[in-house]
Amino acid sequence: MKNRFRIILATALAMACMTAKADEGMWLPSLISQRIVDMQEKGFKLSAEDIYSVNQASLKDAVVLFGRGCTGELISPEGLLLTNHHCGYSQIQQHSSVEHDYLKDGFWAMSRKEELPNKGLNVSFLERMEDVTDIILKGYTPEMTEEDRVELVKANSKALIAEATKEGKGLRATVEALYYGNQYFLFLYRQYDDVRLVGAPPSSIGKFGGDTDNWMWPRHTGDFSMFRIYADKDNNPAPYSKDNVPYKPKKYFRISTKGVQEGDFTFIYGFPGSTKEYIHSEGVRYIEEIGDPHKIHLRTLRLDIMNKYQAQSQKVRIQYSSKNANVSNAWKKWQGEVKGIKKMKTVRTKQEFEKAFDRWAQGGEFDGIIGKLAGIYAELEPYQFATDYYSETVRTIELANFAMSMARLFKQTDSTVTFDKERASEVAASFYKDWYLPIDKESFIAVMNEYEKNVPADFKPEYYKEKLASYGSIEAWAEDMFTNSIFIDPVRTEALDAADKDAVMADPATEFFNEFLKWYASDIQPVTTRLNQDLQLAYRDYMRGQMVYCRTQRVMKDFYPDANLTLRVAYGHIKGYSPADGVYYTPSSTIKGIMEKDNPEIFDYNIPQRLRDIYAAKDYGRWADASGEVPVCFIATNHTTGGNSGSPVINADGDLIGLNFDRVWEGTMSDIVFDPEICRNIALDVRYVLFTIDKIGEADYLFDEMTFTE
Ligand code: ARG
Ligand code: ASP
Repeated sequence: MKNRFRIILATALAMACMTAKADEGMWLPSLISQRIVDMQEKGFKLSAEDIYSVNQASLKDAVVLFGRGCTGELISPEGLLLTNHHCGYSQIQQHSSVEHDYLKDGFWAMSRKEELPNKGLNVSFLERMEDVTDIILKGYTPEMTEEDRVELVKANSKALIAEATKEGKGLRATVEALYYGNQYFLFLYRQYDDVRLVGAPPSSIGKFGGDTDNWMWPRHTGDFSMFRIYADKDNNPAPYSKDNVPYKPKKYFRISTKGVQEGDFTFIYGFPGSTKEYIHSEGVRYIEEIGDPHKIHLRTLRLDIMNKYQAQSQKVRIQYSSKNANVSNAWKKWQGEVKGIKKMKTVRTKQEFEKAFDRWAQGGEFDGIIGKLAGIYAELEPYQFATDYYSETVRTIELANFAMSMARLFKQTDSTVTFDKERASEVAASFYKDWYLPIDKESFIAVMNEYEKNVPADFKPEYYKEKLASYGSIEAWAEDMFTNSIFIDPVRTEALDAADKDAVMADPATEFFNEFLKWYASDIQPVTTRLNQDLQLAYRDYMRGQMVYCRTQRVMKDFYPDANLTLRVAYGHIKGYSPADGVYYTPSSTIKGIMEKDNPEIFDYNIPQRLRDIYAAKDYGRWADASGEVPVCFIATNHTTGGNSGSPVINADGDLIGLNFDRVWEGTMSDIVFDPEICRNIALDVRYVLFTIDKIGEADYLFDEMTFTE
């Protein structure tokens, strides 16, 4: 018995304390000097100052947060930027119509004049980051309640942000908690708002393999698009103007075309969105057994409906292309994640770790923290479940969302009501452009029936129960909403004015959304907010506890803060993997694989005729590798997550060799637990980017502004 315990303890420790050895980790650039020796031992030839510096131009100045969820990098002194096709997707789509279908045919500006401006798109450069824990916690005393602490942090952050952004155009700042609030960092950004579309391959290249190949290896997707940042004549951020000029970056990447080999050092610089590497076993169990499976099922229903109608009409295919991709992306990822957590036995490993930790903690500062976390999770579970259902059902009804956004344009001051007609017109135009009633209505029926079946009565609004009773069925409810709502009719919507406020509020679509919203705000949110605050507080201790524990057990672990859409460095090397017994994947793919998948009958695999002709003639120009084929993608061991899309993949010399865009499906549990044997990021080989610009886009004039190392 004693022996068995010792073995379990040893395994648990090994699993939980030693993981950050092999390429796991998303490191803070300003602290990269702590990793630089390891990086250099693994092949990196530059210094910490080359990666991040506030005194001189460094690689960080060539990396941007693209929008609020992707990464991009500068590849010329003229503001030319590279990111993924799927990151520029909604911009490419917005410029597309049946007549100019840039999604289908691709788009290439043949001169600066032809570059397309994009409302609402911006990019942010990190000016600097700084540990501000002492400033943010100034005035904190251990007796404070968590609410008071939250308020204090808010107030101190606000003052700090105001100070940091006082001087300079386009500055914005955020204060982010790291390690559950054990540490705070200030991030100061300069944001540019005039970002124009320069080029995108046809989707048959940029989205080759579509959702079938998404999250998979071997991969052959040419997932890139190009933009250009514009600035005013002083190189400062400015809103779109035809007088703006190309932005001159402090730093841009040189491009290496000499090719990559298994074992080569790789380094990713980007904005990973969110990970939960240090959570309690109960948090993992919820994801694995409850959250993910239900969300997957609800999305399967919606995707089946979208796919059915998209297959019937080209117009609907375009209208729902972006929506479909968004819904299916997480849907597929969750499936890989569940599989990965199960395979890694993460719940059990964590439970064993927690047991050992708990024994160790007895009588000390961290005594009882494990039980406390379990208790909070137990209380949270039904509320989390209700929240997950609410967001994957009610909140997905497009008509209801639209109705609510129109309702919000009525403003009441004293007895006068106003309605912002101009804004309404804009919102309506973008809604109707991409809305197809039959999809929305069928989805309503499908997801609300699941809602009815699976959500316990205590966690449903009274409004809902009464309405359903009076309609008799979800189908009858849908019939009423999708026949009688004002908002199914663009003409009636356009005619709305201030006098229609009551009618809009009583509209079945508005009412549906609004009643659920009110219920959520009064019955669910206060509880989840309170419990999540309790969790934060408990995790703050547990996080510190894990650090102390691992140190005292003399098991080395280098901790890195969970991703939170701040700039990070991940490094590793190019490497294949074995996803299953008897299978081994090599780390790179070529154009040959595109031809093997090519199939004019299958939408996702129907490549442009031009690519077939090029392949037949082997007209590769200078882009073939030693084997005589054009390289397409490669995989590596860098620890990445959502948000790392579009990140530069950099070699030992600091030059650009690829563009990150995905992870392998079997490794998507890396947001929770990283397995060095299986977790791989997927990158586009930069030579395929150049090949496509050259041979498909015939936009090789763009090469003139790039710097090639060879
Ligand atoms: N899985 C990648 C990521 O999470 C690519 C997503 C876009 N592609 C798609 N077929 N939906 O961003
Ligand atoms: N495709 C993801 C992105 O958008 C990257 C990933 O999840 O690995 O950032």
